Amino acid sequence: MSAPLRLGVNIDHVATIRNARGGDHPDPVRAAEIVAAVGGDGITAHLREDRRHIRDADLERIQAATDLPLNLEMAATEEMLAIALAHRPHAACIVPEKREERTTEGGLDAAGLHNTLAPIVWKLRDNGIRVSLFIEAHERQLEAAGQLGVPVVEFHTGEYAHAGLDGDGKREQREIERIAAMSKLAREMGIEPHAGHGLTYENVTPIAAIPELAELNIGHYLVGEAVFVGLEAAVRRMRELMDEARA
Ligand code: PXP
Repeated sequence: MSAPLRLGVNIDHVATIRNARGGDHPDPVRAAEIVAAVGGDGITAHLREDRRHIRDADLERIQAATDLPLNLEMAATEEMLAIALAHRPHAACIVPEKREERTTEGGLDAAGLHNTLAPIVWKLRDNGIRVSLFIEAHERQLEAAGQLGVPVVEFHTGEYAHAGLDGDGKREQREIERIAAMSKLAREMGIEPHAGHGLTYENVTPIAAIPELAELNIGHYLVGEAVFVGLEAAVRRMRELMDEARA
């Protein structure tokens, strides 16, 4: 099988740049509008506990500005649950969150956190929000996601991206095989697999070529590239690479 592959653009770091000066430029809403105009399939935004990039008011403005589905990345906390229920995004991706980390450093321990996650997953689901869990591509985590009844998992591709940066081809290959195998298993379990983190023009092709994956969420690299070529061109190029990988 080969599912169509959607591109969700994570616009957090447009807000990072905005917040560096405390004003309202560059506006992540304008980024969302550009992503919509250029044929992106969704907007992803992570409302962190410390609001270091996206802020509460951004969510409402993003939802008002485009018809693209919003994928809200959120920690499994009561505060974030209340915000998700108030905003009703199309999807919510539950991610692990540590205040001191620079970015989401690993997958969620869905197996170890079953009792914390279960009521949050159920409340989101009962309110019509498509829940996904950001996990490592490990069978134990996938099984735990299955037990929680989520329709979607997003596999953390950070280890794959790091292996590439380290020039460790063997580790990179192992990671691809692991993500491919877990994507296949997810489909067999009736779960839709997504992937993201650390994806770039240089490393996206082998991931995009995994036929079971339905969505990639990409942020930091696209916003960085947008500084040089503009967001529209950056998203277009990523889309082309993904399409070529699937062709
Ligand atoms: N998917 C999830 C669940 C994430 O937490 C992140 C990073 O916030 C991404 C995708 C995008 O990662 P990157 O910014 O490295 O492309």
